[in-house]
Amino acid sequence: MSIIQAYPKMSAEEAVSHIFHGATVAFSGFTNAGAAKIVPRAIAERAKAIHERGSPFKIRVLTGASSGDSIDEPLAEQNAMSYRAPYQSGHKLREQINNQEVEYVDMHLSHLPQAVLAGFHGNIDFAVIEATEITRDGRVYLTSSIGASPAYLKYADHVIIEINHYHSRRLREMTDILILPPPPHRFPVPFHDPLTKLGYSYAAVDPSKVIAIIENDEPDHIPEFSPADERADKIAEHVVRFLLDEMLAGRIPPDFLPLQSGVGNVGNGVMAALARNPYVPPFKMFTEVFQDSLVELMESGRLTAASTTSLTVTHEVLQRIYNNMDFFAPRLVLRPQELSNHPGVIRRLGVISINTALEVDIYGNVNSSHVYGTNIMNGIGGSAEFTRNAYISIFVCPSIAKEGKISSIVPMCPHIDNNEHSVQIVATDQGLADLRGLGPMQRAKLIIENCAHPAYRDYLWKYVEGSRKGHIRHDLEKSFELHLNLMETGSMLPDLDLKQIAAT
Ligand code: COA
Repeated sequence: MSIIQAYPKMSAEEAVSHIFHGATVAFSGFTNAGAAKIVPRAIAERAKAIHERGSPFKIRVLTGASSGDSIDEPLAEQNAMSYRAPYQSGHKLREQINNQEVEYVDMHLSHLPQAVLAGFHGNIDFAVIEATEITRDGRVYLTSSIGASPAYLKYADHVIIEINHYHSRRLREMTDILILPPPPHRFPVPFHDPLTKLGYSYAAVDPSKVIAIIENDEPDHIPEFSPADERADKIAEHVVRFLLDEMLAGRIPPDFLPLQSGVGNVGNGVMAALARNPYVPPFKMFTEVFQDSLVELMESGRLTAASTTSLTVTHEVLQRIYNNMDFFAPRLVLRPQELSNHPGVIRRLGVISINTALEVDIYGNVNSSHVYGTNIMNGIGGSAEFTRNAYISIFVCPSIAKEGKISSIVPMCPHIDNNEHSVQIVATDQGLADLRGLGPMQRAKLIIENCAHPAYRDYLWKYVEGSRKGHIRHDLEKSFELHLNLMETGSMLPDLDLKQIAAT
């Protein structure tokens, strides 16, 4: 009997017939990497059929992080979700969250496994996990992400496994899985390097909980990033110059410090610029998402090692890794998100974090998640666990958005994900503000002069000068004037000459 035949093998349709209205279903996937694929689509089909009969069917969904086309979008299309945590980035789902049709819990990603264990998200009725193999004694070898899957396998009542033959079985050589016991029995996590391994190459499941095995060979649905534009290149230039100056000043050691880079085009552009610069020594990464641009850096020797929870790379790039596992396996570690984003380890390793803001206020508070303070974009993701604990925390964003109708530098952020106590460096295409050791008025001066687009500087200065004196100056009647203008007129400063902005 083959290993798989030890478990009930069935079609996705049969498997999802067990899933009931109101069930909490926890899926594998951190981004689309390693996401369950066939079962979520089958659940969406089941929801459609049940809705057509006039009956309700919605499930509560947990994953590792966003899962876009693999899980969120098919389920959202069929109005099959009532609850979602801990992160998303789907177009349709975003709409449903902002319409209050789906309750969304936007949370720090490393907290998730402990929150699941403590029952904060309710009982986990089903876990649906993508794997390359499951053994008779319940060892589950995961695919291109680890995320929260080990916790879901441990705590769910019933488990469905998608065995995906597309992925390399050698992924286990990179995998390091450890589940931390609950407080007060937690132990220190003694990583002294991004490549430290302490755990197992597999996650464990009680075999009696496995109700179905489904086979497939579908690749991860990872979209390509658009190439960095001119503004992203300028931001990258400022960040690279700053890091080199820090090395010269002796505040970054000659062998550099591990980097974390958030998802997105600007993050990708900064990494590429760092790698191009001959004065930046070969470096390591301690990060949550490993993106396309990093593979080439590793091949060229610029990036020597990386710890991550997901290989969020396109099909061609993943094939490059799978075809050269002798090279990549010793240089990459895939961990659960509780450990890839572990605050204590981030602090110990002296990580330099680089994340993207939607907007930054003149004192250094950052909003990455809520447009107008009300509408979710994606979520906080891992940005705060890295920012709060980094040796140097950097936020990047273009100085303007929507052709200049939006200034990314504002008097006050209507929602704050990372606050002035944690944010040290802000960089836009205009320049960089080093906020370390500065009080609020000094921070405001640097952020307005170095980071704001020239078209918005006068407004921001007038705001400061006309504000009520205090440790931090604010005029509460005007703090959100730019946002109100934007909502009412489509532009933060309706009289601005956008053609002139485009030319700068
Ligand atoms: N107000 C309103 N909209 C804004 C804005 C602002 N201040 N700044 C940017 N936008 C819009 C852009 O115009 C763009 O709109 P579009 O989709 O209609 O074109 C959209 O927001 C995304 O902006 P973009 O410049 O393409 O950003 P990005 O892809 O680099 O993503 C974040 C930026 C902040 C949304 C993204 O980095 C994020 O979700 N971060 C939070 C999670 C995180 O940091 N994780 C890091 C650990 S991996």
